[in-house]
Amino acid sequence: MLRVVRLFVTLEGTEGCGKTTQSKLLAKRLREAGHQVVATREPGGTPLTVEIRRLLADPESKLDPRAELLLFLADRAQHVATVIKPALASGAVVVCDRYSDSTLAYQGYGRGHDLEMLETWNAWASRELAPDLTLWLDVDMEAGLSRAQKLSGGPGDRFEAEPLAFHRRIHDGFARLAARNKERFVRIDANRAIEEIAADIAKTVLARLA
Ligand code: TYD
Repeated sequence: MLRVVRLFVTLEGTEGCGKTTQSKLLAKRLREAGHQVVATREPGGTPLTVEIRRLLADPESKLDPRAELLLFLADRAQHVATVIKPALASGAVVVCDRYSDSTLAYQGYGRGHDLEMLETWNAWASRELAPDLTLWLDVDMEAGLSRAQKLSGGPGDRFEAEPLAFHRRIHDGFARLAARNKERFVRIDANRAIEEIAADIAKTVLARLA
């Protein structure tokens, strides 16, 4: 029997933390438990915004930091309106690989945009849609980054190619966001074997759905 429980779960973390693999494993586990699941990601979670994702990742894009921020917000507005909200309205569990906390961590703590302004704009772009549960995959930042760069074969995309100090600010940013939003953030130790992390995540999410 298909179970109808609306839950919006996001996965967050620094480069190479394994959230893409874990999002897929979580979606599979939830489907096995009888839930209707929509697995999606930002940026690029809609056919239209795939182009925004390409612009944001391309090391050749000489993007101004304000233009970068507005592209992430445009991506989110389209994604929420056409994918996430309709999925939640149909009673699905939505599993989203990155969401508004990435904007706070990367564009706020990373690039230095004002955090209060980002919170206002995040709320506006997402039509006030906040996650019910955010899994922060906390990984050794340097190990994750070199894994991600190896996978991309070279210095990587525009973000992976940023200096270590940038990635350190983002890691600290996620730690602060987790401390400030204890009711929805769960820290997952992502320095473990894939199956161990997946079991921990599944247990956490299924407990919320029980
Ligand atoms: P993602 O595809 O998750 O990268 P990866 O596969 O390397 O984990 O996201 C692309 C990049 O976009 C990633 O480096 C984080 C960045 N990002 C932001 O800077 N702000 C945002 O709001 C989002 C959603 C992502």
